[in-house]
Amino acid sequence: MKRISILLSIILAFQLSLKAQIYKDKKAPIESRIKDLVSKMNLDEKILQLNQYTAGLNTNVNNIGEATKSIPDGIGSLIYFSADPVWRNEIQKKAMEESRLGIPILFGFDVIHGFRTVYPISLAQACSWDPALVTQAAAIAAKEAKLSGVDWTFSPMIDVARDPRWGRVAEGYGEDPYTNAMFGVATVKGYQGKNLSDPNSIAACLKHFVAYGASEGGRDYRYSDVSMQSLWETYLPPYEACVKAGAATVMSSFNDISGVPGSANPYTLTEILKKRWKHDGFVVSDWDAIAQLINQGVAADRKEAGYKAFMAGVEMDMKDNIYFENFKALIAEKKIPMSKIDDAVSRILRVKFRLGLFDQPYTTVVDESARYLQSESKTIAQKLAAESMVLLKNESKTLPLTASARQIALIGPMAADKSNLLGAWSFNGREYDVESLSEGITKEFGTTAKIDVAKGCDFDGNDESGFSEAISLAKKSDVILVCLGEKKGWSGENASRSTIALPAIQEKFVQELKKTGKPIVLILSNGRPLELVRLEPLADAIIEIWQPGIAGGSALAGILSGRINPSGKLSITFPLTTGQIPTYYNMRQSARPSGNQGDYQDISTQPLYWFGHGLSYTTFDYGIPKLSATKIKKTDKLSVEVEVSNTGNVAGTETVLWYISDPACSISRPMKELKYFDKKELAPGAKTIFKFEIDPNRDLSYVDSNGKRFLESGDYFVIVNNQKMKFEIID
Ligand code: GLC
Repeated sequence: MKRISILLSIILAFQLSLKAQIYKDKKAPIESRIKDLVSKMNLDEKILQLNQYTAGLNTNVNNIGEATKSIPDGIGSLIYFSADPVWRNEIQKKAMEESRLGIPILFGFDVIHGFRTVYPISLAQACSWDPALVTQAAAIAAKEAKLSGVDWTFSPMIDVARDPRWGRVAEGYGEDPYTNAMFGVATVKGYQGKNLSDPNSIAACLKHFVAYGASEGGRDYRYSDVSMQSLWETYLPPYEACVKAGAATVMSSFNDISGVPGSANPYTLTEILKKRWKHDGFVVSDWDAIAQLINQGVAADRKEAGYKAFMAGVEMDMKDNIYFENFKALIAEKKIPMSKIDDAVSRILRVKFRLGLFDQPYTTVVDESARYLQSESKTIAQKLAAESMVLLKNESKTLPLTASARQIALIGPMAADKSNLLGAWSFNGREYDVESLSEGITKEFGTTAKIDVAKGCDFDGNDESGFSEAISLAKKSDVILVCLGEKKGWSGENASRSTIALPAIQEKFVQELKKTGKPIVLILSNGRPLELVRLEPLADAIIEIWQPGIAGGSALAGILSGRINPSGKLSITFPLTTGQIPTYYNMRQSARPSGNQGDYQDISTQPLYWFGHGLSYTTFDYGIPKLSATKIKKTDKLSVEVEVSNTGNVAGTETVLWYISDPACSISRPMKELKYFDKKELAPGAKTIFKFEIDPNRDLSYVDSNGKRFLESGDYFVIVNNQKMKFEIID
């Protein structure tokens, strides 16, 4: 008997010891590991997991002055303002070995359009219409970030934006919900790979949830008057697509969504994100966004701000330490239930377990030369830069430059600039990694033409002293390449501008150059659509290169020489003037569409360049689209084909944008809605079929102000290349 009881106690002890280690057992299911660990954590440890502090030198001027706090071993997360994997591992080692339970820290950072290999800004990437390439770029960004000690990026930004005065229009994928959804998903896939625990995967973070792009007047941190209809129809779809694609986390926004700020909004953060979309990761607040609830007038003090944000559905507090300071009291006062604390902690642990951080808490340390700027990264950087550039104008085939252009004047503030080509949110980018426009052009044309470079003027100010040197070069040249644009700090966070025109000095400079009578190619590097109403007539050709990252020089040079046939198309409309804002392709139809009723009486109401505009060096001819049927049931599919021919004499790549419209519906709908796009290269004289398989529920339905989707019978149009083909949906 005694022997049996000893045996039983040994088995029990063994089971208890096993039980004690479930959260450390990499073979155990993640949910069991979470449950086990939460059951072992005390209140202090749970509250610490809900906080994010910073580590390293904070170079982001917009993040309100923050020095590195002393880093508690059990902190949930750090914004890692460093690229040193060794230091990261030292911090992590303390957490793993000196804290009671050894919970790894989650290291986050803003990896927006590349880490050290800086790619074009996101707005430019969307102009490539190449999600697969964007996925490749994001995967490399993830690898470079991971090797630098970062497990989690605060990206992709998928805020639909239609007010280019807003500096952050540069960070998203433009004016259209479907475009933001497709490129957001492509970027999430690149970051997270096939499995979040893969060695090169990092967790994505969808931001800024939600409708930050509707911030009043294009100014940051402001009120955004968003109807429920617009919320569901315009701002939520990219998030829904990315949540479905498995995005690990979400960031709550600064803006006040029609009276309920994004960081204290139970409808968006819990009802929609958690209950309807079943998101099982976590929400982190934007920087100081919880403390800012006081300024926004919805919290009397920090304690109330923390209570409201957490109860609304913000699991992690970025930087302002409000959760740490106030949660013990709020729990003691029974205002915050332990069940909600445990749910929040579980969500954070879930992402850490999925990332494999418990089992692989340390960064593999490799030499910088093996971490960054590998040849594959640079190849993709060049390809993405080239595919994102948009030929806006090309009068009488000014481009590509022919052999007759033997003397090229390359002038303007962007001609030899490097730093500004990196664009906003490129903290780990290095100026010396950038190939300037002049370097790229000299390499491309150096043997066939003489390139004279002069700055001529600065980005702003009123110093015209450089004009004369530039003009004298221009007079001797066969063609003038004028490189203008914006400084990288003029877009991004807290970079709203009252006008989207370039500073007067730049416009005046071109007016003076025009007097030389030489052909002018205007090259623009900027982070938003620009007001070109005065510049456009002065230019024979215009190329929008955006902020192309490290490889813009060779990409532009290839386009100028014809080595590359431009294929980019705008992901955002260029208004004629700032006064036309907002103007975007998927507006509602005017009640008086004809004549000039409802138009501006002082200027044209047509924008300069619509969403989808982009020229090529070849020509593409579209046949008549063919429908597989003109009447289908709601449950049927309808395919539409169009034959596209390359009728020019050079190869070119065409992107076909497929839209639908519903002319008579229970609610008014946009004049047209992008629902699919496809991109193919065609040799000269080649023809190919582009096909769109319409799934009525997915492509024709509309969502109402409660988020309910409807598909109505009746007439619809599918629109391609401005050809409208009618068909009917029957019950
Ligand atoms: C900033 C930005 C956000 C960024 C965060 C961390 O204020 O709004 O996009 O991810 O803080 O840097």
